[in-house]
This record gives sequence, C-alpha cells and structure tokens, in this order.
Amino acid sequence: MTLARNTLYRDDLLAGQRILITGGGSGLGKSIGQRYVELGADLVICGRRAEVLAQTAQEFQDLLGVRIETHVCDVRDAQAVHAMMDAIWAQGPLDVLLNNAAGNFLARTDQLSTRAFDAVVDIVLKGSAYCTMEAGRRWIAAGHKGTVMSILTQSALTGMPYTVPSAMAKAGALAMIRSLAVEWGPYGIRTVGVVPGPFPTEGAWKRLMPQERIGEAPIEHGVALRRVGEHHELADLCVYLISDSAAFITGEAVVIDGGRWLQGAAGASAYHMQQWPDSTWDSLHPKKDKA
Ligand code: COA
Repeated sequence: MTLARNTLYRDDLLAGQRILITGGGSGLGKSIGQRYVELGADLVICGRRAEVLAQTAQEFQDLLGVRIETHVCDVRDAQAVHAMMDAIWAQGPLDVLLNNAAGNFLARTDQLSTRAFDAVVDIVLKGSAYCTMEAGRRWIAAGHKGTVMSILTQSALTGMPYTVPSAMAKAGALAMIRSLAVEWGPYGIRTVGVVPGPFPTEGAWKRLMPQERIGEAPIEHGVALRRVGEHHELADLCVYLISDSAAFITGEAVVIDGGRWLQGAAGASAYHMQQWPDSTWDSLHPKKDKA
C-alpha cells in the first residue's frame, strides 16, 4: 500500500533528489522515506541495526521496485557519521538531510542517571549536529545547495515534564535550525523543522503513551481536531518543505499536530466547556423575556 492520497504532488516531484534520513528504518522516518521514494527520490537511510535497515530496503523494493542505500551508523559516533558521509558522497552528493533519529523515554528527571541523560541528548542534539555539520561543510566546499530538515517535538517549543533530556535536545536542534538559516543562507542552504503532534508509531506509543499516562481520557480529547495524525499527512508536509515550492522558507519550524498544543495551552477546562449543553451557556447569560 502506498502513502499517496489525494496528493497535490507530481509523481516525479523529487526525482534527482538524493536524501538521507537518519533513523529511516522504522517509525515516522520510514513513512517519510516511503513517500520520498514514491515521488522519485534517491533515498539513503541510516540506523543502528543492520537487520532493520535491510528489512525496510527489502520492503521498499517489493512495494515500489526501488533500491535504496543503507548505512549502519549510530549518529552519536562522530567518526562513524564522518565515514558514512564520505561513503554517501562517494556515490554522489546529498541534496537533503533529514535529522530524524531520536531516543526518548518517560522518566522522573531527579531519578535519571547521567548515562540516561547522555543517551538521549547524544542522539537528538549531538547526532543532529554531527550530521548537519558533515553535510553542510561538503555543500559549502562544493558550492552545492542543500536542505537540512529536523524532526522536532512540541517539547522544543513548550518544554515537557518527564521527557526533559529530549525537550532540551530538541530545543537545541531548533536553535541550530534558526542559527544556521542565517549562517548558511548565503550558500543556498535552507534549514527547516517539523513539529509533529500525535502520529502513532509502535515504538513511540509504547514508550511515551502507556495506558497509565493516558488514563481514562482518550488522547483525541487533547487534540483540537479530535483525532491523531496519519503518517501520510506528516510525510506530505515533509515533501513540501524540501521541495522547490518551499524554496523561500528557512529557519522555520512548522507545527503539524491538529491543534494539540493549543488545546493544551487552553487548559483542561476547555475540553469540558466544549461539552457543555446549551442550558449551561444559557444559565451563564440568561436571555431576557421579550415583552
Ligand atoms: N528510564 C530511565 N533510564 C533509562 C530508560 C528509562 N526508560 N531507558 C534507558 N535508560 C538508561 C539506562 O538505564 C542507561 O543508564 P545506566 O547505565 O545509568 O543504567 C542509559 O539510559 C543508557 O541505556 P542503554 O539502553 O544502555 O542505552 P542505549 O544507547 O542502548 O539506548 C535509547 C538508549 C534511548 C537509544 C534506547 O532507549 C532506544 O533504543 N530507544 C529507541 C529509539 C527511541 O527511543 N526512539 C524515540 C521514540 S519516541
């Protein structure tokens, strides 16, 4: 099954675009990668586990008849990132880097070990920086234009209890996007971000949305549009932001969350008020009898 829906995009929109997605073997990165391949991109994915990468590559070949390039690489390892970028560039320069690899779990911050803190920050903040610097310096040296896109989270904008290392790291990744938009803009390098709300994936849902957290209230109650996102919706935004149609957008992070963070900002009572019957509203402002 393809991710294409009622799409605005031409089937060959991304033809000739060489794109690396870190952590592209699973979850949202895999869905975005599939959409890129459907639109003609030359896809490269990396991740820590060879078997996951191989399985995704096989699936894409079976489904779309396209071969993709895979690299086993832990983005926490700066030397491994350097070697991977050398290997990728040996086949041809990237046009787009998508910083998607992440690590996150729920934990009380006062109970976190420093190794646990490092595990998340090293992947999300340092890993994104290592990949971005490796791509950027090659683009600048060759006079090649490029786009860096990073997957962020709401926590980068608002902070988030119990996922503090991830919130800190994603906020840093947002600062990187905004900073490099100016520093690298003159070279024709764009840096953008995406802030996805609830897009269910097996891994993230198990880790971040256990039943104990959600309790009795369905997650949809916390989303203005009263539903979770579908992967093709996120993937199509990620297509737009790397396409020529978005050529004047840089340093910006686009929220795609069905109004979730604003529903949260409105406070818990907003949801209850939306359930009030007319009689409750009428009791607050009784209508005067017309004589
Ligand atoms: N709560 C508290 N501490 C945790 C934890 C949790 N849920 N999970 C891991 N840690 C701690 C470990 O105890 C360890 O610290 P310690 O040595 O002081 O005990 C430290 O984090 C490193 O754990 P380890 O499993 O050795 O690290 P790792 O590098 O193999 O994996 C992740 C860490 C985050 C990458 C791992 O959880 C992972 O693979 N996650 C899947 C990817 C992911 O999280 N994606 C994002 C989904 S939203």
